[in-house]
Amino acid sequence: MFSKSFPFQNLFTLACRRLLASLLIALLAVFGWGLAPVFAASSSRDIPAVALSPTESITFTERELARGKKLFSSTCAQCHIGGQTYPNPDVGLKLSDLEGATPPRDNVLAIVDYIKNPVTYDGTESLLEYHPNTQLLSEYPRLRNLSDEDLKLIAGYILVQAKTLPGWGGTKSESHSDLAGYL
Ligand code: HEC
Repeated sequence: MFSKSFPFQNLFTLACRRLLASLLIALLAVFGWGLAPVFAASSSRDIPAVALSPTESITFTERELARGKKLFSSTCAQCHIGGQTYPNPDVGLKLSDLEGATPPRDNVLAIVDYIKNPVTYDGTESLLEYHPNTQLLSEYPRLRNLSDEDLKLIAGYILVQAKTLPGWGGTKSESHSDLAGYL
């Protein structure tokens, strides 16, 4: 009796499996397509657009920001950790500080420009001898291998942090210390 029912059972499970498999494929096709835009939207929603220039905006990808973060950590963070500025906390990397500079630095190209040619907050004097920049590479070897694209990614990372991270840029009550200690 066991041997008689066995082939039937086999056929039955085979049919069941086929049915289940095609059901699964159908479900995946329907819900997979339906959910794709939901996932796509939720990952890009986390990264806000930032200003590229006073008139244009740009949205960086997760990958670009990860690279910006890495470069920021290796070349800027020793003085700008958490967006603060040692030893001058009044000129931090929070949006209000960047906006208040002359000309405003709250966009990607203005920050890139600052790294190429840093000037005082009021825009009147050069800080080439004081702030790391791409002109005096012999003094700032950490910046030597940075391309324009790299500078853009660093600026993008700064602006996205400034927009999304509460506390980025710190407060103005940090004590001033000697810049030489950070070079
Ligand atoms: C040796 C310390 C040091 C390093 C390294 C450094 N900075 Fe700075 N940064 C400063 C100081 C100090 C100021 C304030 C200058 C002033 O008094 O105007 C400043 C100011 C700035 C400002 C202007 C902020 C504002 O509110 O106007 C930007 C932008 C900036 N840094 C970006 C960077 C970036 C990007 C890097 C890395 C490529 C970097 N800095 C590396 C010390 C540093």
